[in-house]
Amino acid sequence: MGNKQQNMPDPVRVDNPALEQGVRETAVKLRRMGQDDPLHFWAEMSRDVAWYRDWNKVLDQSEAPFYRWYLGGRLNASYNCVDRHVDGWRRNKAAIIFEGERGDSRVLTYQDLYREVNKLASGLQKLGVKRGDVVTIYMPMIPEAVVAMLACARLGAPHSVVFGGFSSDALRERIRDARSRFVITADGSLRRGKSVPLKQNVDVALQGGSSPVEKVIVTRRTGEAVSMEVGRDIWYEDVLAQGELYCEPEVMDAEDALFILYSSGTTGKPKGILHTTGGYMVGVHTTYKYTFDHREEDIYWCTADIGWITGHSYIVYGPLSNGATTVLYEGSPDYPAQDRFWSIIEKYRVSIFYTAPTAVRLFMKWGEQWPAAHDLSSLRLLGSVGEPINPEVWLWYYKHIGGERCPVMDTWWQTETGMFLVTPLPGDESFVPGAAMRPFPGVDVDVLNEQGEPVKAGEQGYLVVKKPWPAMFRTLYNDPERYLNTYWRQYEGLYLAGDGAKKEADGTIWVIGRIDDVLNVSGHRIGTAEIESVLVEHEAVAEAAVIGKKHEIKGQSVAAFVTLKEGCSGTEELVTELKRLVVSRIGALARPEEIFFSAELPKTRSGKIMRRLLRDIAEGNIIGDTTTLMDPQVITNIKEKYGSMAG
Ligand code: WTA
Repeated sequence: MGNKQQNMPDPVRVDNPALEQGVRETAVKLRRMGQDDPLHFWAEMSRDVAWYRDWNKVLDQSEAPFYRWYLGGRLNASYNCVDRHVDGWRRNKAAIIFEGERGDSRVLTYQDLYREVNKLASGLQKLGVKRGDVVTIYMPMIPEAVVAMLACARLGAPHSVVFGGFSSDALRERIRDARSRFVITADGSLRRGKSVPLKQNVDVALQGGSSPVEKVIVTRRTGEAVSMEVGRDIWYEDVLAQGELYCEPEVMDAEDALFILYSSGTTGKPKGILHTTGGYMVGVHTTYKYTFDHREEDIYWCTADIGWITGHSYIVYGPLSNGATTVLYEGSPDYPAQDRFWSIIEKYRVSIFYTAPTAVRLFMKWGEQWPAAHDLSSLRLLGSVGEPINPEVWLWYYKHIGGERCPVMDTWWQTETGMFLVTPLPGDESFVPGAAMRPFPGVDVDVLNEQGEPVKAGEQGYLVVKKPWPAMFRTLYNDPERYLNTYWRQYEGLYLAGDGAKKEADGTIWVIGRIDDVLNVSGHRIGTAEIESVLVEHEAVAEAAVIGKKHEIKGQSVAAFVTLKEGCSGTEELVTELKRLVVSRIGALARPEEIFFSAELPKTRSGKIMRRLLRDIAEGNIIGDTTTLMDPQVITNIKEKYGSMAG
């Protein structure tokens, strides 16, 4: 760290093309409030959320870093997202506009959503789901997935949504870790015209006796035949049919769990990131409202999957709590053609569009003729999330999608943070393409060097959060020690995000990306250790080191360096087998693009594999410092062999 990034053009500034006086004033006011007195700021913001009982203390730090927010407050997240909108005119407003991959469409008004959430919650209750039970949700991007999340929230049963792209093994691990007795799934999901057998994956995940699951609720999507186990499996529509029209929301404490979401860390075991109710709702409500300048008439579309935190916070809880209209698209951006997203924006006249840099890079590659063929004039604001957005990608997005009319909100945050922490605001006068800009009001972040001192302007360091924020995760499920070790022990009392960043003299923050052993492939977080532990399961493999290699579209691609056991040879078949093994254990998102066999791996004297050097080789960089290596010759050998293969 320490040196400036090379080959970076001087940052340009782009004036906000849509600056309105009122929005500007709001931004200035919020920033001032947040700076003067963050706790007062968060106390004020909590007024926008509906409480059954007011809280009596904003923040309790007595057991820091196990912070507690809005002490004594009582609320229900589903009440906030649904009930409070159906008393007034919003009952007839579209809550969810669903676009199926095949072009089928469904609109659920707030009244519709209210009815379905109530019926499902009541039906689940009759099946035995009660407060505190963890319900696993493994579903496609269909309205039923949102209904399922809200129904769980209504019952005070924390949901654990598992991304539909995860394999049955990954699903099994998450079900077991959460000791989940209930699973809500679908027969299958549709992707590029093909179906993915979700129910079958669930069946496999539950095989083998010791599964905690008692009931599996299945909705129909693909219509394909599935096997239903008598006594265990039940159709979603039958659960609805048994449900009453009204199901009283559980009165939850602000600190009661709302959900668990598994995410990758630096060990082989995924972390169950636990979010609670009060702080989370205030955090996502507030950040959605002000970062996207929420307006009643907006049609908002976030392209994330509900299996990730972005889907939780900014498809479900943030927008619905604000009474927004949110678009839910089931499928892929290139089905049936590469203009699918633009045709959806045109069809529904989407005004706010929130997507990931990896998607924008894909659109750039496909060419500007695709968006140009559609009327995108309804757009007024754009967002970006998941990884750093390269300045040239930002500019392309701004020009070809936003028509140079729409400010771009580059939102930095994490599964752990629950809500945006660093982002521009629509009331800012200008933006620096590629920079996430500034902390959200009431949030305090900094960039530190190894010694814990703030870095000098323009230098790189570690991104930390200096004060607690309401939507922060509270712990790692069943693993408080790991919570402390991973996030809070590096710098006493500060949250270590795991990202590198730099800060300009004027306070502009650039997030550079992960600096731990976590990869970011197409905006998806994957731990190198997770993939390595799958590879070493194979009988031919002695050792494996996984790295992220720069990739034009995905940001990073997975590359594995593997040493084989005596007598085993690195054949093409073995490569295929290893890739298949990773897909079956984790999912296609973790499939190594490249597997390279090497007689040895570069290690320090203490035996730690130096992945950084492998990355230098894979990316063709000048090899970094090798002085700490046990045997520097190893790296020379790998470089030669790798080079001759690539050449
Ligand atoms: C990266 C996704 C730069 C970062 C919300 C972080 C970003 C990780 C940005 C969290 C951004 C997310 N600029 N990097 N705007 N947004 N990241 O938990 O490395 O899936 O640590 O949450 O994504 O990924 P996660």
